Parts: sequence; structure tokens; C-alpha cells
Amino acid sequence: MTARVLAVANQKGGVGKTTTAINVATSLALGGQDTLLIDMDPQANLTSGVGHKGHAAPAGTIYQALTAEIADAGAFILHTQVDHLSLIPADRNLTGAELELVSLSNREHRLRTLVDLLRPRFDYIFIDTPPSLGLLTLNALVAADGVLIPLNCEYFALEGLADLVATLRRVRAAFNPALDIAGVLMTMYDERTNLGQQVARDIREFFQERVYTTVIPRNIRLGEAPSHGMPAVLYDVKSRGAEAYLALAREMLARETATPGSHTERHLG
Ligand SMILES: Nc1ncnc2c1ncn2[C@@H]1O[C@H](COP(=O)(O)OP(=O)(O)OP(=O)(O)O)[C@@H](O)[C@H]1O
Ligand SMILES: [Mg+2]
Repeated sequence: MTARVLAVANQKGGVGKTTTAINVATSLALGGQDTLLIDMDPQANLTSGVGHKGHAAPAGTIYQALTAEIADAGAFILHTQVDHLSLIPADRNLTGAELELVSLSNREHRLRTLVDLLRPRFDYIFIDTPPSLGLLTLNALVAADGVLIPLNCEYFALEGLADLVATLRRVRAAFNPALDIAGVLMTMYDERTNLGQQVARDIREFFQERVYTTVIPRNIRLGEAPSHGMPAVLYDVKSRGAEAYLALAREMLARETATPGSHTERHLG
């Protein structure tokens, strides 16, 4: 097997990147897909969201994996409470990595080196990124096959997207020609408001068929689950938020079996 590697990215903060990475990955793992989560955000919300706050793997965290030579890639992996779901955790040290990477050789390819070593072991690898377009996010985009872009259905949803699309173009041109937009995900949707509906229309107009049919509603359980160190799809599988992420995982699987390999042929908008 060789993993499909997706970076979850949007330089805007609080749009649901981490929630999406955790719950899509867990949904796929529950369906038997061997899935790895990589936390590339110094806030380490993904690491705590799956119950591993402050934990390191035998070889350390993603910080060591990025800044030191890798002897054994598998030694950076932690197992989670979910079968088929693994984690490479982050901690606060990662804040310094953004600066330290600048002076390292292959600074844009550090994560790719690790990911390529791990691809044969997994079906899916999800990389959570911080709310910036710095070197950590750049490493994620260089390592990935596709980018999953969560957009919260609020007034400024499309603002700043030009910067993200320009960054994706730059990464394609300089480092990773195969990088594609795997999908755009509408999050925190409130169907009761005209604004939510209008923003959703605008997003579909801009990104067209790249937008997932599945929409993630604003749902209190999605906000509560991280404080219990549990993915929402385990914390309350019957909640609307959990159901939406399970549906998204099914949609992703269906999309990718319907068009095998097509992600490398599509072009950025
Ligand atoms: N659909 C949703 N409904 C309600 N709350 C949500 C939803 N999605 C995420 N949240 C909550 O909103 C907050 C921001 O979500 P999240 O951490 O996933 O965003 P993020 O894009 O990763 O943020 P950052 O840019 O800081 O990394 C969190 O407290 C999360 O629990
Ligand atoms: Mg986050």
C-alpha cells in the first residue's frame, strides 16, 4: 500500500482544520483504513484532541523528526485509543522549528522525507497545519498529494484565499508539481441564517466541483469533544457533527475510488 497524503490547510485561524483532521482520520480508521495523523501546529491541538497532550513517541515529537536526522521513522509514531489510527505528536518545541528550519538543508523537504518513509505503512496520512503560511505549512504542502481546505461559512470565509491559492501555485511550481486541491470543506454551517446560505453559495461558485457535498454543521459536540481528549466521532457518534464527519469520510472514499489517480491530473483553480 502507499498512503494518500492530505494536508489540512487554511492560514485563517479557527476554521476547523484540526477538528476536520481528527474526525475524518478517525472516521477512516473506524472503517478499517490504516491512518496516520501528523501534528504540524505548535499549538498541538490535534495531539491533545486525540488524548496525547504532552506525550512523545520513543524518538520524540514532530520537532525532532523535522530538525534531526531520522534513524527510524516508525519510532516517531504513537498508537491512539482507536484501532488503525496513529499519531505523530507535536509540542511547544515546534514553535522554534519554524526559525531553526531556515538554516537547515532541504528546509522545505524535511517533512516530505519523513512522510515518504511512512507512506508504505498507511492508507491515509493527514497533516494538520498552523494558521499561517510559514515554513511548517510549506513543509506540509511539499509532503502532500493534496490539500483539504476547510472554510467556515462566515462573512470573511473567502478573504485571504487568494494568498492560499497563490501559495499552492508556488509550491507546485517550485517543489511539488502533483499537489492538488483534494477538496474544499464547508464548516460551522448554520443553515438557519441567510448569511450562512449566501456564503455557502459563494464558496460553491468559487470552487465549484471541488467543494465536498458534505457540509459540517455548527455543532456543540464538535467543540466539546477536544476537552475530553476524544474525537467527536467517538465522544458522541450520534451527534450531527459526528454524523457529518462520518459522511465526509464516505464521500472521500467514494470520490477517490471513482476517479483513481485523477488527483494528479486536475489543476489548481
Ligand atoms: N463545526 C463546528 N461546530 C462547532 N464548533 C466547532 C466546529 N468545528 C470546530 N469547532 C470548534 O471551533 C474551534 C476552532 O476549531 P479548530 O481548532 O478545528 O480550528 P483550526 O482551524 O484548527 O484552528 P487554528 O487555526 O487555531 O489551528 C475549536 O474550539 C473547535 O472545537
Ligand atoms: Mg488547529
